Amino acid sequence: MKLTKPIVFLSLITAAALAQSSGSTSGEEKILSVLRRMVDTHQTYLSVPAEDGKALRLPAEAIGAKNVVEIGTSTGYSGLWFCLALQRTGGHLTTFEIDHQRAARARQHFKDANADGVVTIIEGDAHEQVSKIKGQVDLAFIDADKEGYVDYLNKLLPKLRPGGLILAHNLEMVPDYVKAVTTNSSLETIFYREGAGLVVTLKKH
Ligand SMILES: C[S@@+](CC[C@H](N)C(=O)[O-])C[C@H]1O[C@@H](n2cnc3c(N)ncnc32)[C@H](O)[C@@H]1O
Repeated sequence: MKLTKPIVFLSLITAAALAQSSGSTSGEEKILSVLRRMVDTHQTYLSVPAEDGKALRLPAEAIGAKNVVEIGTSTGYSGLWFCLALQRTGGHLTTFEIDHQRAARARQHFKDANADGVVTIIEGDAHEQVSKIKGQVDLAFIDADKEGYVDYLNKLLPKLRPGGLILAHNLEMVPDYVKAVTTNSSLETIFYREGAGLVVTLKKH
């Protein structure tokens, strides 16, 4: 019973964040409608809150990202926030997921949002699969096994272009990762403390 108020409050925040994102194009509105439906019908799984979704879309769109990589697809919620940017930048999302059922649900959500043409889902252990990434990466988002973040960082950094960004979710849960990005002189890092928190890192050179 005690949980009712926070849940209602969180739903209102999510609704407000999604409403604020009301799209001006039909493509954008289609994606937003699937995002809303996923929240309303509980088809997210450990997904970012909508505030963080906006914080993924915004830099991707601002830097004109063409090649976006995500570690931890789940059911496609954060991936769809990237798709809002990619439909404007003409870019592509490659997203990695170890769980077959979640990957299948994500595939359906991307299709429902008419975004399946700009997304490739790679199933399997991302620690092994990231080598399959083709071309220079403009923006990478890490949101999978927390103990694996430093390994993902080490594998993604050589693929990231200078001026590219790496975003990592749940900043309070990944102290080793925070240490790794803040002690590397080729990187500049800031912290986004809305929602569940993001570590936002620029590859300077
Ligand atoms: C926090 S959820 C991702 C949420 C998603 N980014 C979103 O906001 O909708 C983490 C996901 O990472 C996946 N995962 C965990 N370890 C993995 C690994 N080694 N390789 C690929 N995916 C992994 C889990 O199966 C889970 O679906």
